[in-house]
Amino acid sequence: MNILILGGSAFLGRAYVSEALRRGHHVTTFNRGLSGADQPGVEAVRGDRNLPAGLDRLIADRRWDAVVDTAGQQPYAVGLAARLLRPHTDHYTLVSSIHAFADWGKLPLDENSTTHPCPADTPPDQPPGNHLKAGCERALLESFGADRSLILNCGLLIGPHENIGRLPWWLERIARGGKVLAPGAPSRAMQLIDARDFAAFGLDLLEQGRTGRFITTAPPGSTTFGELLDACVQATGAAAEPVWTDEEVLLSAGVEPWTELPIWAPDRPDWDAIWLADSSRARAAGLRCRPLSETVRDTWAWLQERGPAAQPYLQGRTPLGIDPEKERSLLAKAAG
Ligand SMILES: NC(=O)c1ccc[n+]([C@@H]2O[C@H](COP(=O)([O-])OP(=O)(O)OC[C@H]3O[C@@H](n4cnc5c(N)ncnc54)[C@H](OP(=O)(O)O)[C@@H]3O)[C@@H](O)[C@H]2O)c1
Repeated sequence: MNILILGGSAFLGRAYVSEALRRGHHVTTFNRGLSGADQPGVEAVRGDRNLPAGLDRLIADRRWDAVVDTAGQQPYAVGLAARLLRPHTDHYTLVSSIHAFADWGKLPLDENSTTHPCPADTPPDQPPGNHLKAGCERALLESFGADRSLILNCGLLIGPHENIGRLPWWLERIARGGKVLAPGAPSRAMQLIDARDFAAFGLDLLEQGRTGRFITTAPPGSTTFGELLDACVQATGAAAEPVWTDEEVLLSAGVEPWTELPIWAPDRPDWDAIWLADSSRARAAGLRCRPLSETVRDTWAWLQERGPAAQPYLQGRTPLGIDPEKERSLLAKAAG
């Protein structure tokens, strides 16, 4: 197939490109050339999707069997791409997010859950916000309708080339060894998905011409925080010992969930349903998730190859990871 990937050079888009090339598809990528190198074998087109002139240059009189938009964050940008690309393709995949659902974190989710009321015509350059993906979805549907759109509500992604740095932070922390501050209980269930499994599933659906919405993440309860940190200890071979610390102690010490201890969602209101997204529709359609240990091992191997990060790990503008001094002091308190 002839596939256009909007984005394609950082993490999930990169995984789509690798898998599509492996399957023998012709891949065009469209990005500004700022976030990473395009992989050998793609036809790389440079441009800024926020400028009509950027996409115009790409399109000319071409056709693609399918478009995959891994980079759409603003309803304006998705709407613009969808309007311009409508005459040039029959199928548009939007990588949306679990964040698009209004009750993410608070209630269990499925494909019928309500999304944020963010309009398709939201003005450009909005500050980042969970609601924007819902507007992106509406902007796509306005041009492509339900019968030509595939919306994948993505859960938390991990794997090699992760560009946020959640699993890389844990791996690097554990590789330093010693006692490691670990949040809450090791039995806390989680739902994580390897970007390579997401991409393989997204391409399966695209090849089949499937449309509609799929919550795309591992099954609820498929792993636990304890298994994640154990896999990090195994992968790095470090002499590290997670010290599981009461969530109340961490919260009252001002430790920020999700960022200071990455991926930590406390088991309390507003967070306790974060890992309860029902992905059975995706599983029935063929989603397969590899063992967590394999993802962690491959991510560690990639980190060794990459070396130290060129930039600090950030979630939006918030740095990831706890200050080592703060961690030491909390560990000392826990030791009594
Ligand atoms: N990580 C998670 O846990 C998670 C969870 C839920 C949903 N998601 C969603 O999954 C997707 C994953 O993103 P990714 O970073 O892995 O995808 P990616 O496609 O690998 O990287 C983002 C791409 O967007 C391009 N881009 C950014 N701004 C652009 C612009 N103005 N014009 C043209 N290209 C532009 C970047 O290249 P240049 O900067 O070089 O232009 C880069 O190629 C996102 O949609 C994200 O919201 C992720």
